[in-house]
Amino acid sequence: MAEYDLTSKIAPHLDRHLVFPLLEFLQEKQLYPDDQILKSKIDLLSKTNMVDYAMDIHKSLYRTEDVPQDMTDRRVEVVARLKSLEEMAAPLISFLQNPSLVQELRSDKQYNLQMLNDRYQIGPNQIEALYQYAKFQFECGNYSGAADFLYQYRTFCTNSDRSLSALWGKLAAEILMQNWDIALEELNRLKEIIDSKNFSSPLNQLQNRTWLMHWSLFIFFNHENGRNGIIDLFFQERYLNAIQTNAHHLLRYLATAVVVNKRRRNMLKELIKVIQQEQYTYKDPITEFLECLYVNYDFEGAQQKLVECEKVILNDPFLGKQVQEGNFVTVPLRDEFLENARLFIFETYCRIHQCIDIRMLAEKLSMSYDEAERWIVNLVKNAKLDAKIDSTSGTVVMGTNHTNVYEQIIENTKQLSMRTYVLANNVASMAVPVTQVPTIR
Ligand SMILES: *[C@@H]1O[C@H](CO)[C@@H](O)[C@H](O)[C@H]1NC(C)=O
Ligand SMILES: *[C@@H]1O[C@H](CO)[C@@H](O)[C@H](O)[C@H]1NC(C)=O
Ligand SMILES: *[C@@H]1O[C@H](CO)[C@@H](O)[C@H](O)[C@H]1NC(C)=O
Ligand SMILES: *[C@@H]1O[C@H](CO)[C@@H](O)[C@H](O)[C@H]1NC(C)=O
Repeated sequence: MAEYDLTSKIAPHLDRHLVFPLLEFLQEKQLYPDDQILKSKIDLLSKTNMVDYAMDIHKSLYRTEDVPQDMTDRRVEVVARLKSLEEMAAPLISFLQNPSLVQELRSDKQYNLQMLNDRYQIGPNQIEALYQYAKFQFECGNYSGAADFLYQYRTFCTNSDRSLSALWGKLAAEILMQNWDIALEELNRLKEIIDSKNFSSPLNQLQNRTWLMHWSLFIFFNHENGRNGIIDLFFQERYLNAIQTNAHHLLRYLATAVVVNKRRRNMLKELIKVIQQEQYTYKDPITEFLECLYVNYDFEGAQQKLVECEKVILNDPFLGKQVQEGNFVTVPLRDEFLENARLFIFETYCRIHQCIDIRMLAEKLSMSYDEAERWIVNLVKNAKLDAKIDSTSGTVVMGTNHTNVYEQIIENTKQLSMRTYVLANNVASMAVPVTQVPTIR
């Protein structure tokens, strides 16, 4: 399953600190040898200020109480630098920690800067020190301290690049603290800036959008409204362009979000189009499942891919999140994905065949006969399919309107002969009473 692990593709678009949760997940899943993960962690940590954490990992990795000299040296360095930054930022921080002084601030940035300078001798150097101190705290893993200081820094900052960088830092800190509501607000704030006309350059804009989408995965697969959020963001033309230009692997997340989001079925067609356009640059069992079902009408293939989809989801740090329910651990996204994917198979199947043998369908969906029958009754009701169940013969009989519905699905009139061929093949291999193969005009 390491074959489908996207961590190495995703990590270059993340802040270093955001890679840790992914490594934690992979370690738990034992997708890679433990030593390999621990070494990656030490590697990542060496570029942060979390020296104590690095030392702990070193000790457990090499089963020793000794730590290398460079780690000890680095610790001394970090502590000294933290102290000096703290001193430099102290005047502004003590101002900010005094509620009665903070009341003197107004919504006018220029006024505030002037006031700080005139009355408290706090100038650009102290404001710069606040940024450096916040950044250093972040590197130390103190995300709450960093988030507060970065927020305050932005209220005084007059340099747009610096302000942007502070906002990225704030977003990372909120994600790492799992404050999903606030993180979503910061994400939207950042998006507005990136999408603004005066943003530095088109290339920077493209890369910033790519970053934003990667960071958004943490939020969208945790926030209660994330299933809509990811679809809204990723399908925006400029963001979809960014995916198709330099982040094809994000298609996995978009595809999964569309499959599990019943209210956004209307995006399925657009999604299939993109998956087809990118079929030579990116595929995984999830995109292949949709391709089998909606491009090739290959039900056997879809069924096989579905088995792999489950494994992909369980081993994906964003999709495979576990939830404790009483004594059970469930993976909600896996359950929803399978449920909806089966529904897709069934709906498509019903639209192509007029008479369906329930026993055969039960087999295809890995269910018992009774289970399948109950499931179908519900589906027919919920999907408003024009179908009746004939219990004596054990079949589902579709109404006469299905051809129209089928035509709606097809729409795309290209490659018709190919489709007809594939369809005929499928029908032949199904060995079910097919009374009518829909005509394709
Ligand atoms: C994080 O930073 C804040 C602000 O400087 C500080 O009050 C807090 O003690 C720090 N937390 C840790 C764990 O160092
Ligand atoms: C873009 O323009 C807006 C409004 O004029 C301004 O507030 C903002 O700072 C500018 N952004 C950049 C990146 O220059
Ligand atoms: C985002 O844009 C800024 C310039 O506005 C640039 O400095 C930065 O490198 C960009 N970020 C990425 C990830 O390219
Ligand atoms: C067939 O579809 C049309 C319009 O979609 C509807 O008015 C009609 O009632 C349907 N016929 C049956 C038998 O369901």
